[in-house]
Amino acid sequence: MTSAQDPGGAGGQDPGGAGGQDPGGAGGDPAGAGERVVGVGPWPGGPPAWPDDARLDPELLAAGDRRNVEDRFRYWSNAAIVAALDAERHPLHVAVENWQHDANIGSVVRTANAVNAAGVHVVGQRRWNRRGAMVTDRYLHVSHHADVAALASWAAARGLPLVGVDNVPGSVPLETYDLPREVVLLFGQEGPGLSPAALEACGAVLAIAQFGSTRSINVGAAAAVVMHAWVRRHVFGQLPRAGGAP
Ligand SMILES: C[S@@+](CC[C@H](N)C(=O)[O-])C[C@H]1O[C@@H](n2cnc3c(N)ncnc32)[C@H](O)[C@@H]1O
Repeated sequence: MTSAQDPGGAGGQDPGGAGGQDPGGAGGDPAGAGERVVGVGPWPGGPPAWPDDARLDPELLAAGDRRNVEDRFRYWSNAAIVAALDAERHPLHVAVENWQHDANIGSVVRTANAVNAAGVHVVGQRRWNRRGAMVTDRYLHVSHHADVAALASWAAARGLPLVGVDNVPGSVPLETYDLPREVVLLFGQEGPGLSPAALEACGAVLAIAQFGSTRSINVGAAAAVVMHAWVRRHVFGQLPRAGGAP
């Protein structure tokens, strides 16, 4: 390996000056079908030109990196990416009930990765439908809890409030609620929504404002709305609207 040209990570982004698309020229559009190929090809110049950076994965340098990761993580090993994310995780946890193998859980997990949540908690069945996660769970800490009581005691042991998300009688509007910074947000599943045990265990249950005819939105969409509300509150310092709707 040569010495690293850019140990801060930029060297792993676009070594060939191709804008992170395909520096080695090995990707492009091999099928010639106009299909956009994600990521970067092999590091140009082969092993003698590889940067001396322990975060980089020799297999990715050799073969190219086609993973769905940000450009700053190109060629990094999975372990190195997890370590970098661990250093800056946000203190919100995202929990979701999983009694019926709901296909939407993957979408919740993917958004939790995007906001760099501290952890994801699957409550109920251990096996969950990973399809919508697009392997983003690889870079997250995913825990399993057999039931809501187990999640509640895990949260209580860490002093974390358990806040449910569902539009049920007694729910508080998300738009006027000051979300705690350190928190476990618990989502229900398509169909039944939060279970009676979950509603009982939560200190507050939040409803997202709706104005149409449908009873609810998709749980993946609901999770994205609430996680973004957390980001607005605790990354951008935007206070919720006091006094309710205009
Ligand atoms: C399809 S909803 C289910 C139930 C809903 N209470 C009903 O009456 O139909 C599934 C999950 O999505 C989330 N969800 C959907 N719409 C919501 C909303 N307007 N406010 C809060 N959560 C919502 C909740 O986590 C809920 O448990």
